Amino acid sequence: KLVAFAAIQGGYKVVSQVEGELENALESMSADTKVEFPNTGYYLPVIYSLTGMKVETLEDMKAPMAFARKLLPPHIKGKNHLPYLGPLLDAGMASILAYEVKEALRIVREPDFYFPEEDPDLENGKKWVGPADDIILRKRGVEFVDGSAPGFAAMVGAAPNPEIAKMIVEDYQKRNLYIFCAANHNGTSLIDQLLEAGVQIGWNTRIVPFGPDISSAVFALGFANRAAMAFGGVQPGDYKKILMYNKNRIFAFVNALGDIGTEWACAAAGCVNWGFPTLADTDIPEILPTGICTYEHVVANVPHDEMVQRSVEVRGLKVTVSEIDIPCAFGPAYEGERVRGKDLHSQMGGGKTQCTELVKSADMKEIEDGKVTVVGKDIPDLKEGDTLPLGIFVQIAGREFQEDFEPILERQTHHLVNYIQGVMHIGQRDISWVRVSKAAVEKGFTLKDIGVVLHAKLHQDFGKILDKVQVTLYTDKKDVDKLTETARAEYKRRDERVDKMTDDDVETYYSCTLCQSFAPNHVCTVSPERTGLCGAYNWMDCKASFEINPTGPNQPIQKGECLDPVLGQWKGVNDFVYKTSRGAVEKYNLYSMVHDPMTTCGCCECIAATLPGLNGVMTVGRDYTGDTPCGMKFTTLAGVMGGGAVSPGFVGHSKYNITQGKFIKGDGGLLRMVWMPKMLKEEIKERIEARGKAMGVPDLYDKIADETIGTTEEEIRPWLEEKGHPALSMDPLM
Ligand code: SF4
Ligand code: NI
Ligand code: NI
Repeated sequence: KLVAFAAIQGGYKVVSQVEGELENALESMSADTKVEFPNTGYYLPVIYSLTGMKVETLEDMKAPMAFARKLLPPHIKGKNHLPYLGPLLDAGMASILAYEVKEALRIVREPDFYFPEEDPDLENGKKWVGPADDIILRKRGVEFVDGSAPGFAAMVGAAPNPEIAKMIVEDYQKRNLYIFCAANHNGTSLIDQLLEAGVQIGWNTRIVPFGPDISSAVFALGFANRAAMAFGGVQPGDYKKILMYNKNRIFAFVNALGDIGTEWACAAAGCVNWGFPTLADTDIPEILPTGICTYEHVVANVPHDEMVQRSVEVRGLKVTVSEIDIPCAFGPAYEGERVRGKDLHSQMGGGKTQCTELVKSADMKEIEDGKVTVVGKDIPDLKEGDTLPLGIFVQIAGREFQEDFEPILERQTHHLVNYIQGVMHIGQRDISWVRVSKAAVEKGFTLKDIGVVLHAKLHQDFGKILDKVQVTLYTDKKDVDKLTETARAEYKRRDERVDKMTDDDVETYYSCTLCQSFAPNHVCTVSPERTGLCGAYNWMDCKASFEINPTGPNQPIQKGECLDPVLGQWKGVNDFVYKTSRGAVEKYNLYSMVHDPMTTCGCCECIAATLPGLNGVMTVGRDYTGDTPCGMKFTTLAGVMGGGAVSPGFVGHSKYNITQGKFIKGDGGLLRMVWMPKMLKEEIKERIEARGKAMGVPDLYDKIADETIGTTEEEIRPWLEEKGHPALSMDPLM
């Protein structure tokens, strides 16, 4: 068992080495030097999630290092087992903890080493992104919740050549997996190879360049553990739950490309604690004993052309690759890919020409399923740099189809067109923008393919409510202008219908339990005047979703007897929530944050908090990372209340909800709002003004403080008094 030995030996080596690094750091810097992964709220996340230790300074690093040292098995033959998975796994875990300290030390020494954005800064040679900040975690973590990303492949090392690197990675992309990359091998890395092969890297294409060393692989584990805490409500320190959560819910595995030395062997052993097996392309004896998991832990000598298939098989992942008859690759992995200036072939919309999309129901006899027509010029008629107007007109017929579904299907255009490799879609309705890359045109892409994709995917995803899909693409200015005129009238009608609806108009609300896969007790109740707290689901969406999928996450709730019209409480809602939260939540109010507010899960857009000293409330959006007058940053707030519990004084809500009529109406409504981040305030300025006017305070917008006024109650109070903010003279909040 040579490599088994290597994993334990590696554990000793790594722990000793990092202990040395820490000692050096403590000699050259003060012990209270701040340590953090920038813009994250989980300290050093692997250490925090597994042990509960909060590392905030250099001094704090000593404790997890001592813990790692203690984990190292006393006997390499495997006697004296530690309480959980055996000495090899303990040695592996010890090295993972040490690797996280090592990476944090690097960030202390070289704060600019990583470029922590979705896209690496290749022009300035910054290809490594390091640990994901909380905004990326939220955005990407949700994809693991809703299943649009089933898991990730952690790739270490480099392939024999760029072609093989590209082949493997594109195969994972097609299966919707994230590809987390770390560690150089023989002076190169998978990332270098992909760049050489012209593959776009970054969070946007799901190919994440974490870092150049094997220690950077720890960012993949940190991401997985933070997702478990943020969305799953798993408590820090509950290592069993964290590891089980990953084993059962995150389909991940490691591909080791290159010779496995001791430092890779102990990392591989560490990953088995998470239930993540390693598949290697080299000849290695078994690292670990079998029988711990239901599948193999280490598979050696996997040929490169079988790597992907074998990896997903070993991990038991079932993914179907959807085949759509277009010349380009297709799937969510291409959704975030950009078409930049130098790659651009031609474009439609984006202010240069008109680009409009409209989905409209049609009579069964009127349209022909699968018919896709391009009226006017198409890509082959264009030369590089050309623009075209574009009208995408989708007609739907189906016995179950309702006009209410039109906007929902229309909204699919955005991601479906983006799923085409080399094609980018921005905006919606009559402000759409399609950018086509040279690479896509070389492969043979034409506008007709947009129609082919829409027809195929709408059938696949909405087959229950539609029978026929016909797509017409107009590229003559006069046709596009005509379609735009029709479309604008439709948009207006739709908006008025939704905006005018109130909670009192309907007897049925809808539940959303989509987030229960991460926050097991959380139930959103979505009413016309209270959209889902993630911002993605309004009442109409939930209604449509229920009709499309009657056993899905959106179920009708009969309001039943009204128990409190001011706070917004109904018997039917309470009964439903009690049952669906498995008894964890007995009741909640839709219109109050002070008294039994609705539960909040980790994906809310904003969190509101009461400011008793100001007799008002504040709210903060996820994209604001600074301090707030309630004393907590967004990440802290989300950590405190994001697990699906009722937390009086706080509530998660969508941005849109802020200006809906029933927003905390039981607590006085929007007139209580005394502070918001400037960015959020400006984003919804017009609607705040309209709402203020409707509530009798037309200049409400100008009375709401933001971080430029202050970030404590004391700082903003004089300003509010000077402006005469209405909250100051309202009834006491509590
Ligand atoms: Fe999650 Fe609520 Fe949004 Fe549904 S509506 S996805 S439960 S936050
Ligand atoms: Ni694309
Ligand atoms: Ni959620």
